[in-house]
Formats: sequence, C-alpha cells, structure tokens
Amino acid sequence: MPAIKIKTAEEIALMRASCRLAALTLKMIEPHVQPGVTTQQLNDLCHEFLIDNNARPSPLNYRGFPKSICTSVNQQVCHGIPGPRTLRAGDIVNIDVTAHLNGFHGDTNKTFHVGPPSPKAERLVQIAKKCLDVGIQAVRPKGFFGDIGATIQAMATHHNCSVVREYCGHGIGREFHEEPAVLHYGVAGTGAELKPGMIFTIEPMINLGKADIRVLPDKWTVVTRDHSLSAQFEHTILVTPTGFEVLTDLDGEYGT
Ligand code: MF3
Ligand code: CO
Ligand code: CO
Repeated sequence: MPAIKIKTAEEIALMRASCRLAALTLKMIEPHVQPGVTTQQLNDLCHEFLIDNNARPSPLNYRGFPKSICTSVNQQVCHGIPGPRTLRAGDIVNIDVTAHLNGFHGDTNKTFHVGPPSPKAERLVQIAKKCLDVGIQAVRPKGFFGDIGATIQAMATHHNCSVVREYCGHGIGREFHEEPAVLHYGVAGTGAELKPGMIFTIEPMINLGKADIRVLPDKWTVVTRDHSLSAQFEHTILVTPTGFEVLTDLDGEYGT
C-alpha cells in the first residue's frame, strides 16, 4: 500500500488555490440552481468558469466520465451525469466540483434545494451537513482516520439515517484520488494516524432510508436501492499542527 503523502509548504499553497477555485465555482453556481434549469446548463456554467480561471474540470474524461461536474438529484447518491433533465421545485441536487489548477486538484460538493424544500428533504440535507461537520471536527494530528468515520456514523445513526459504504473520501493532491480511502463509518482509534501535511476529502453520502445502493446502466449514476432521498457535502481538509484547515471553506465557517 503506497504511503499517505505529507504535502510540503509549496504544495499546500497550490492546494489552497485549487480548493479555493472549486469553492468559488460552487458559490458561482448557487443562484443558477432554480426550477427550470437543466443539469447540462449547470455543467456548462461550471465548465466555463473553471476554464476562465485557468483551470480544468477534473471529472471530464476521468475514467471515461463524460461531463465536467457531477449532478446528483433526489435518490441519486453521487456521480450523476449532467444532461437534459430539468430541475423542479422540491428537488434536491448535489453539485460536485473538482478543479485542476497548476497541477493540483481541489474537490468540494454541496446539496442544494431547488425552490422551497419539502420538510423531509430539509431534514436530510441538514443531517448530511452535520455529518460532514462532525467528521471535520474529528481531524487533529495524532488522531486516526477511524475517528472521522466513527463520528459520522454515530451522527447519521442517531438521526435514523444511513451512511453509504461503497464510496469514500480520499487523499488528494497532484492526483484526483490518492491514498487513503477515507471511510465514513468505522471505529475510533483505528486506521492510519492523522499527521500534519496530510490532505484529504471527507464527503459522506447520507440516505433517509437504507444504505444499499446500485449503479444505473449508464455505469456512473449511483442511486439508493430503496429510492429514498440521499444527500452529500464534501470538503478538502488539511491536517495542521494544531488541528485542521478546511481548504474549500470560503466563508470562514470553520474558523480556518
Ligand atoms: N468528485 C468526486 C469525488 O468527490 C469524484 C467524481 S469522479 C467522476 O471524489 F468521474 F464521476 F467525476
Ligand atoms: Co472527492
Ligand atoms: Co467531489
């Protein structure tokens, strides 16, 4: 198993830039997430924004993925392919942006409400965000990757929601997906030790119903088996000597 990379100060500076651009792309797209917009239109706006900022969308042609962002609607868990689908009031849509800038990838996603939310969608989206946040708060040097998964799993279970197990967070840097796989479930105190200079994503996929998923015949779109709603949030995180820095946080929400 290849070792988990410790990034140098120069690499961290470049990661801050790619992560900031990915986060700016999500901020740019937010006002366009309205009833009547197609997921293709959202794709094209993000694509243009990244190109205009001297970056490339990492998903495009990644292992054959045909578009520039992932758009996952309602019971779609992740890796939804943008296309002619028109978003309707009451839908939820996760938009996952990965920017490749100056040789480094920055990865972030967010689930948006389209028009006014239904009570169950609002509840799920709040729980999914809370799951990411407790996972982030578990990051500290000398802690363990298992601490992150355990706290996310506990939060999801507490709210009678489930954690998708087949897809994980990941190390990130010069490669889109690096070691390790960051599980969103597990046991505190297990797994690799967290060390300053490690950079990885946390991106729990939380279902209102059961955890089971399947992949559609398009070979990409992941959906819940029981058709229950699914929501996800993702940030790229740096382990610092004192705790963590959320590299894809534009608003200082995490005080970093
Ligand atoms: N951005 C996704 C992640 O968070 C990966 C998308 S891979 C793609 O890891 F090929 F579907 F774009
Ligand atoms: Co990711
Ligand atoms: Co992503």
